[in-house]
Amino acid sequence: MRNNHKRFAFGKNWQAFSERSLTKERFQQFKDSFKALMHGIDMQNKEFIDIGFGQGLALISALQMGANVTGIDIDENNIQALENTCRKIGCHKTPEHRICSILNDSFVESNKHQFDIVHSWGVLHHTGNMSKALENGCRLVAKDGLFICSIYNKHWSSPIWNWIKLLYNRSPGTVKKIFILFFYPILLFAKIAVTRKNPYKKERGMDFYYDVVDWVGGYPYEYASINDMLRTVQSKGFRPIRVNPAIVPTGCNEFVFKKE
Ligand SMILES: C[S@@+](CC[C@H](N)C(=O)[O-])C[C@H]1O[C@@H](n2cnc3c(N)ncnc32)[C@H](O)[C@@H]1O
Repeated sequence: MRNNHKRFAFGKNWQAFSERSLTKERFQQFKDSFKALMHGIDMQNKEFIDIGFGQGLALISALQMGANVTGIDIDENNIQALENTCRKIGCHKTPEHRICSILNDSFVESNKHQFDIVHSWGVLHHTGNMSKALENGCRLVAKDGLFICSIYNKHWSSPIWNWIKLLYNRSPGTVKKIFILFFYPILLFAKIAVTRKNPYKKERGMDFYYDVVDWVGGYPYEYASINDMLRTVQSKGFRPIRVNPAIVPTGCNEFVFKKE
């Protein structure tokens, strides 16, 4: 995997979130957002894959909604995060998962057209090769299946954030802490200014602090406008059925595509 030495440790952040911050209430908030994204989609007995399962909330929600689920992620620390999540919310069984990259061609080749629902929230822009990750994600979708993803929106500040994230990941631990202390209040006030809502009431059951760490550190980082995404995924034989624009300008746009 290229840029490995500059890669953000997502798994450690998800481990800390699932251990210290996740509650049953937060899980319910996540599930409500997930159900809204999946609105009108029959999950019962559907083959569902979550690319970049992270803390496992989507994987567990899909399982509870009746799907046959499997998750992949490149970060081994996310296995512990998934287990923490299961323990916190009282799962009957840990969803199937494996450590594997969406950029792994042999995985994609042996699983192509296998999944009714391919879901990947906030992941493909962190792979180091978003174009290939999108291509590989689409290849997993079965006939008449769905490709559901969220991708960071393109904004004038996106190239600046790219440098900040790179710098963060090249810095030693104490400097990383200073980055977070510096950006925490800035992001807090920016969120209030844009949304006019309590920034601590996070979408998807998330936690403001761990989201700041994820945002400042999340590297590799790529982004795309809504139109770029529509053009790219449509050219692979998919039709958009829903687009939810990001709440903040550099946030994630959500897309639901159907394979034609
Ligand atoms: C921002 S987190 C999103 C986690 C989760 N999907 C969510 O919605 O909260 C990004 C995740 O993508 C994973 N990831 C990064 N590159 C990947 C790759 N090439 N293949 C699979 N997962 C990857 C990271 O390890 C991390 O867990």
